Amino acid sequence: MSNVIALLHGPNLNLLGQREVDIYGTTTEADLLALVEKGAAGHGMTVEFFQSNHEGELVDQVHVVRHTCAAIVINGGALSHYGWSLHDALATFEGPVIEVHLSNTSKREPWRHTSVLTPVASGTIMGLGPHGYELAVDAIARLLNK
Ligand code: DQA
Repeated sequence: MSNVIALLHGPNLNLLGQREVDIYGTTTEADLLALVEKGAAGHGMTVEFFQSNHEGELVDQVHVVRHTCAAIVINGGALSHYGWSLHDALATFEGPVIEVHLSNTSKREPWRHTSVLTPVASGTIMGLGPHGYELAVDAIARLLNK
């Protein structure tokens, strides 16, 4: 079985560290990847990272990782709130899927309160900033018995 976690990032997450720092903080996407890689290594796992600002590219990447990865950590960005094709792609993934949001989307604008990815996620972590990514890796290790 694969020892690889797919870390998938949706639109605008490439701008983390510069973007709305009052909400998302100063941690960059590269910092988050390093955090996830470190956590994964502690469980004998590695990370395959992919970011796109385009829904179809994320759908394509889910199709790729269906064959290469044991689990998915996904922050879909705004696509989380309306990306039904991403929902359908994730529904085809057999391993654990952990949805992460840096901010607590339930405390923000009403349109952020629903995530269409939540029904196809094993669990969702939100509002804990970068620590949520570390928790997501630990959850995956637990779900995979690593
Ligand atoms: C986000 C929350 C989304 O509502 C937003 O569109 C993002 C980031 C988060 O990590 O808090 O791009 O997913």
